[in-house]
Amino acid sequence: MDRSGSSSRSNRFPLTNTIDLLTFLRTRRSVRRFKPDPVPDSVIREILHAATFAPSAHNRQPWRFVVLTDQRMKTSLARAMEAEFARDLEKDGLSGETIKKRIDRSRERMTNTPVVILLCVDMTEMDVYPDSKRRKAEYIIATQSSANAGMQLLLAAHAEGLGGVWVCSPMFAQKTVQEVLNISMAWEPQAMFLLGYPLEAPAARDRKQLDEITKFITDIEAKIS
Ligand SMILES: Cc1cc2nc3c(=O)[nH]c(=O)nc-3n(C[C@H](O)[C@H](O)[C@H](O)COP(=O)(O)O)c2cc1C
Repeated sequence: MDRSGSSSRSNRFPLTNTIDLLTFLRTRRSVRRFKPDPVPDSVIREILHAATFAPSAHNRQPWRFVVLTDQRMKTSLARAMEAEFARDLEKDGLSGETIKKRIDRSRERMTNTPVVILLCVDMTEMDVYPDSKRRKAEYIIATQSSANAGMQLLLAAHAEGLGGVWVCSPMFAQKTVQEVLNISMAWEPQAMFLLGYPLEAPAARDRKQLDEITKFITDIEAKIS
C-alpha cells in the first residue's frame, strides 16, 4: 500500500464499471449481527487506510480512530457507557424493565461484535477564530470531515465483505468513553462502528423519493434583487 492509496489486495467486491460502483453503493446495509470469526489485522488496517482518503476541510484530516478487538476492553466500554445510558433513559421516564432491556441489547451488540472502531474528531489542527459564528462553522466542518471518513470506512468494510453499522451512542457519553479508553481529551468521540463478517443480509430500508428531498433549479426562477 502506498500513500496514494494504491493497493495490491484483490477486491472482494470487484468493480469494473460505473454500474458496478452504483450497485456497490446501493447494496451497503447496516449489519448488526456478526459471525464470531475474527477480522484479520491487515483487513482492519486496509479499511482504516481507505477511510483516510475521505475529503476533509483544508485537508486537515481531523478524524481519529480507536480500534477495539479485545473482549475485555469491549466489555469495559459497554459497561461504562451503559451507566450513562441508564441515567438518560431514567430521565425519559422509562420503566426499569425497559431500561434493562435496552441496556442489555446495547451491551450484547457491542460484546458480540468482533471489531469496534471508535471515530473521534480532533480540533487541534483546525482553524481558530475569535468569533462564535466561525468557531461553530469550523467545528461543524471538522465533524463533517470526520463523518466522511466514517462513511468511507463503512464502504471499505463493505468492499472487504464485512458488515458494519454506525452507532451514535458515544456522542451521549463522550467523557466516559475518553476516560475508559484512556485517550486524549482532544479526541472527541463521534460514533462507533460495529464490524464483522455478517450473520444477516438485511433488506434495503425505505428511501425517500428524490423529488421529496431535491429541488432542481432549471431556469432563472429565483428573484434576483
Ligand atoms: C449518524 C448515524 C447514526 C446512527 N446511529 C445508529 C445507532 O445508534 N444504532 C443503530 O442500530 N443504527 C444506527 N445508524 C444506522 C441507521 O439506522 C441506518 O443507516 C439507517 O436505518 C438506514 O439503513 P441502511 O444503513 O441499512 O441503509 C446510524 C446511522 C447514522 C448515519
